Amino acid sequence: MPLFPALRHHPDVIGPSGIRPTFCLILIDTQQCVHLSYPAENHFPLRPYKTFLRIHPMHSAVMAGMKKTKIHMTRRTFLRLGILGGLGLVGGKGFINSRRLELARLRVNVPRLPAAFDGLKVGQVTDIHAGPLVPSELIHEGVDLIAQANPDLIVLTGDFVSGATRFLWTTYGGFKPRHLKECTKALSALKAPLGVYGVLGNHDFWSGPKVLKQIVYGLEQAGVRLLRNETVPLEKDGQRLRLVGVDDYWEGSYSLDRALRGTRKTTCRVLLSHNPDVNEDIELIKEPIDLVISGHTHGGQVVLPLIGALYLPSPFGQKYRSGLVRDGSRQTYVSRGLGLFFVPVRINCPADVSLLTLRRGPIEATTFS
Ligand SMILES: [Fe+2]
Repeated sequence: MPLFPALRHHPDVIGPSGIRPTFCLILIDTQQCVHLSYPAENHFPLRPYKTFLRIHPMHSAVMAGMKKTKIHMTRRTFLRLGILGGLGLVGGKGFINSRRLELARLRVNVPRLPAAFDGLKVGQVTDIHAGPLVPSELIHEGVDLIAQANPDLIVLTGDFVSGATRFLWTTYGGFKPRHLKECTKALSALKAPLGVYGVLGNHDFWSGPKVLKQIVYGLEQAGVRLLRNETVPLEKDGQRLRLVGVDDYWEGSYSLDRALRGTRKTTCRVLLSHNPDVNEDIELIKEPIDLVISGHTHGGQVVLPLIGALYLPSPFGQKYRSGLVRDGSRQTYVSRGLGLFFVPVRINCPADVSLLTLRRGPIEATTFS
């Protein structure tokens, strides 16, 4: 847990390397002695996830070097410890929540949907964030939920890995090639009559060119057809639907113009875009898009009553947090995603994989979950 300032600046709390630690274990005994256990270097000492809630054998060495510091328990210290304990409990619950996955089922009315596609079932898996924070069991569970729903079409909307080495330090032990292998192996079980399509997310690009190549190769091997600023026609009973896919909206390689080239405005278009903020560009270029399928926001991960998500990476605030959002004749579905990033916690925001049933008909009331 984070080390709060009063203890962090205590003269005894300096690691052997002279660095003040950011994380530590805090134990309080019956003598009101606070025992602090912290790493020699300033990095998180606990192995992530499975071992998070119990002490891993590797920490016995850390525990052996534990310092014992007698701290006068003032009311303020007591209050702070109380608050910290409360936060710990909420964090623990949030951690358990992050391992719970649900199948979000949604009916989406699309006025221009060709009659042959009425009732089309689209399975979506997004924001897997394969890495040390997302166990492969959770990925398999998501794949099984989608497979059991028998979708006609499956779409994967990016952030397959969590290897943000470009901006962040090696998070919680870092991304390893085996995380990607486990992810693509699980995804290879996904099959659908109209195919399995995917687009790349910001984290896939942030992993760097070498890992990005591995992601593209791994997905191809898993039978996923990546749409990188391109479109494919889906045909049924002589009628056509356009599936369009773009690179992540934040990346220089993104081009909706190129993706739509050669397609007719009169054809029903479903756009796969990792980031729902792509709506900003759609408004600018004034191209008719019927449905956007996205992820990226993780639903906010931590959502508080009356306040909403504490943080959303979007200039639109809470608008594209999750669920179905309407912009005129265009709708955007935003999944909360299977995995997570940075903090292994979800509060009021369960992880999901989604099953959209598209119906030909007028748009119904917007849902915003
Ligand atoms: Fe993501």
